Amino acid sequence: MSVGISFKNIIKKYGDNVVIPSLSLDIKEGEFFTLLGPSGCGKTTLLRMVAGFNSIEGGQIYFNDKLINSLAVQDRNIGMVFQNYAIFPHMNVTKNVAFGLTNRKVEKSGVEKRVSEILKTVQIEEYKDRMPQNLSGGQQQRVALARAIVIEPDVLLMDEPLSNLDAKLRVDMRNAIKSIQRKFGITTVYVTHDQEEAMAVSDRIAIMNKGVIQQVGKPQDTYQKPANLFVATFIGRTNILTAKLNGSKLNIGAYTIEVKASSPSECDVKISVRPEEFIISKDNTGIKGTIKHSVFLGLNTHYFITIENGQDIEVIERSTEEASYEAGMNVSLKIDGSRLNIFDKNGDKNLSYGGAL
Ligand SMILES: Nc1ncnc2c1ncn2[C@@H]1O[C@H](COP(=O)(O)OP(=O)(O)OP(=O)(O)O)[C@@H](O)[C@H]1O
Ligand SMILES: [Mg+2]
Repeated sequence: MSVGISFKNIIKKYGDNVVIPSLSLDIKEGEFFTLLGPSGCGKTTLLRMVAGFNSIEGGQIYFNDKLINSLAVQDRNIGMVFQNYAIFPHMNVTKNVAFGLTNRKVEKSGVEKRVSEILKTVQIEEYKDRMPQNLSGGQQQRVALARAIVIEPDVLLMDEPLSNLDAKLRVDMRNAIKSIQRKFGITTVYVTHDQEEAMAVSDRIAIMNKGVIQQVGKPQDTYQKPANLFVATFIGRTNILTAKLNGSKLNIGAYTIEVKASSPSECDVKISVRPEEFIISKDNTGIKGTIKHSVFLGLNTHYFITIENGQDIEVIERSTEEASYEAGMNVSLKIDGSRLNIFDKNGDKNLSYGGAL
């Protein structure tokens, strides 16, 4: 049976080093939840606390209503998949997958049935007698996944399970993981620092920095309505510009637009404009810029533009049959103010969605 996971004011220290100062989070039953953040932000640390491999220096972790802080690893009913596969090199595929069941004293016919079902689900049935060293990285990762889910865990923990695979296989495997997770409805906590992978598989994402959750939300929300400047720059590509906000008028140099945020008096703000949110035009209203160069990538063309304050920005437009804007050309850039993300000058708060200065 799947469980919800609650973290209440969780603290993690290594010696005097506080890695997680106080973290609270609720993960729903059956949810595919991803911890996303830069290297060293505490993702693995938090996952290991759920698994029971790390001590907890403060706060509580619950599986539904059950406090698990001092529950032994083997009593938590957790399936785990890690970056380095961690399948047993001296056992063939079937024995690897059966291991968790035989270890739990499941009777032989039950083991055979469940192993054969899982091998079908992860599509490695035809390799059931092979030894791990004779499998590709993707196949080994499927074995690791099969081994984790065959025990019907309450919680599935995955720490960068795809990072050793090449780009194409990563995409295939993430689709496989997502559909298996959906099929079994296992509450899953997934760790990655690949933001595209996070968006592709997750119901919700927590973006972490230095042990502190910056935002929890659906992939679309974190991309379109980032809580702060860190999230805006971490998820997807964006251009950060300085501007002045006065009332609901935003001045970017000499270009003024009406926006959703407002300020009682003129103040400095930062804005985040995704490359696809700029509109390039040849008329004279907007932020003035000069095309430096462009890169044609099939569907889209990326333009690198130096704007009037000297800053280099990136703009993406749908490709047209003829390159519309050539290097050296003067253009102006417009922005749709109603969708714009505007932050206070320190980047701590998004002012466009009810935030106030
Ligand atoms: N056993 C340990 N002893 C002391 N410090 C540790 C230990 N494990 C991790 N740390 C520190 O805790 C912090 C968080 O580490 P963690 O491994 O959780 O990061 P992460 O978000 O998983 O990073 P990555 O994306 O690189 O895997 C880092 O500063 C790390 O150096
Ligand atoms: Mg890690």
